[in-house]
Amino acid sequence: MLLFCLSLLAGWLLTPAAGFTPPSRFNPLEHLGGVAPYFEPHGPPASPAPPQGCAPVRAAYLSRHAAIYTNDYDYEAYIEPFIAKWQNLAIDWSKIPSLSFLAGWTAPVSEAEEELLTRMGKLEATELAISLSFRYPGLKPPRRVWASSAERVAKSAQALIRGFELEENTIGLVTIEESETTGANSLTPYKSCPAYSPATGANQSSVFVKRFTKPIIARLNAAAPDLNFTANDVYGMMELCGYESVIRGSSPFCNLDLFSPDDWLSWEYAADIMSHYNTGYGSSVSGVIGLPWFQATADLLMAANHHANSQDLWVSFTHREFTSAVLVAMGLFNNTEPGGGCVNQSMPLDHINHRRAWKSSHIMPFMGNLAIEKLSCTGSYGFPNGYYYRALANNAPQQLPGCRDGPGSSCSDLEFHAYVQTRASMFSSFSETCGVTDDNSPERLTIYTDPGVGNGTLVGKRTV
Ligand SMILES: *[C@@H]1O[C@H](CO)[C@@H](O)[C@H](O)[C@H]1NC(C)=O
Ligand SMILES: *[C@@H]1O[C@H](CO)[C@@H](O)[C@H](O)[C@H]1NC(C)=O
Ligand SMILES: *[C@@H]1O[C@H](CO)[C@@H](O)[C@H](O)[C@H]1NC(C)=O
Ligand SMILES: *[C@@H]1O[C@H](CO)[C@@H](O)[C@H](O)[C@H]1NC(C)=O
Ligand SMILES: *[C@@H]1O[C@H](CO)[C@@H](O)[C@H](O)[C@H]1NC(C)=O
Repeated sequence: MLLFCLSLLAGWLLTPAAGFTPPSRFNPLEHLGGVAPYFEPHGPPASPAPPQGCAPVRAAYLSRHAAIYTNDYDYEAYIEPFIAKWQNLAIDWSKIPSLSFLAGWTAPVSEAEEELLTRMGKLEATELAISLSFRYPGLKPPRRVWASSAERVAKSAQALIRGFELEENTIGLVTIEESETTGANSLTPYKSCPAYSPATGANQSSVFVKRFTKPIIARLNAAAPDLNFTANDVYGMMELCGYESVIRGSSPFCNLDLFSPDDWLSWEYAADIMSHYNTGYGSSVSGVIGLPWFQATADLLMAANHHANSQDLWVSFTHREFTSAVLVAMGLFNNTEPGGGCVNQSMPLDHINHRRAWKSSHIMPFMGNLAIEKLSCTGSYGFPNGYYYRALANNAPQQLPGCRDGPGSSCSDLEFHAYVQTRASMFSSFSETCGVTDDNSPERLTIYTDPGVGNGTLVGKRTV
């Protein structure tokens, strides 16, 4: 009897039950917030295919730029100071188990490469074009693509255009200046919003960073006392897992012997606290910053006249702050419990809210994107024929709260119109909320319809 049980047990150990994920399968790259390569978390795991009987007739995408070699802030605050200490100290790393790789490591990035798009970033953006062309065989490829003017953003758009073009020089890149004086009329309106500060959220996030790095610092300092690891070093080493991976294809900093799954979940939560206060639901200006894009895009999609010259597919590139603000304006990934929950209590600073909806790894990895589709549904059993709308984040359909009378996660033309109006009335004044004093500052986003914006610059062969 005992023998029988043992063999059963052995059999069980050798063939783990379906769905059981051994800890070693944990992938830090899916928990690295804004420094994660693009991935589709499939949260919720609903099919991205249109609901039965429906076909997309128009779609609009807002994407963060693709993978870069580090942004200037991350490099200067976290990565460079760690690299400088590592370079300047004569430590025999080969004798330190979890850090022995540092004996033969070379830094993957220098100041000269800050902010540049990586090869992988270019590929990610080109691949997005291919996947959009597979996804929307019935839509014309875009005639114009929009991007804010930072090099990494414009280059992401160029790489996407090259993926769409069958012939060179057929699609224009419209570059929208990242200005402090264009009010709501840009792809970076937070830069024109005096009430927005890029540092917002850093104080709150640092409370949690101090907390989660404390045992890690003690462990690393016990192993290599001469380096005198700080919270910023630990934060930067964990960022290097993401950045080195998008530069070189892999990184020894991702090793789970160095940082455990709990360490990565904590890093992820610290990044989420930052983005919650910076441009998420914990910011009192993100709604007004994001609303103009939602409104302008909804107008493009809802417009009755599907005339031959207009686009079917609009794609715009920006930075994560803007995508995040648009999610707030649309009411997506809202942590707050209905019925009077306090928004900031949903992101406590002394423990991880594992059930949170606001997970930046899922929302804004490199090239993280948000889409709104207009569907034409005929014969979608149980629903009248007509137009329906739905939102997707990184290819996963998302339910707009209070807009759910259509098939799948979609809602009807009537409800969608009402939803856009409700959101517009919640976030009605960009200038007033942002504290813009110029009376002529634009309150709306018109880059998609204003003829003065032009057709952009055609994108051809790469010349450099
Ligand atoms: C962060 O905290 C410091 C020190 O308490 C304070 O001076 C600063 O204004 C805070 N920054 C923000 C953006 O709240
Ligand atoms: C280690 O770093 C901390 C924080 O930067 C600093 O206050 C301390 O003096 C350093 N200790 C040594 C031994 O260098
Ligand atoms: C959440 O915290 C931020 C920063 O302290 C504050 O500006 C905002 O008003 C708070 N939100 C609410 C609803 O209390
Ligand atoms: C977030 O959800 C709460 C609870 O449902 C709601 O009261 C609040 O208005 C929502 N916030 C936004 C910006 O949609
Ligand atoms: C942009 O392209 C459209 C369609 O080809 C054309 O009608 C229009 O004149 C062009 N606009 C400019 C400013 O070149």
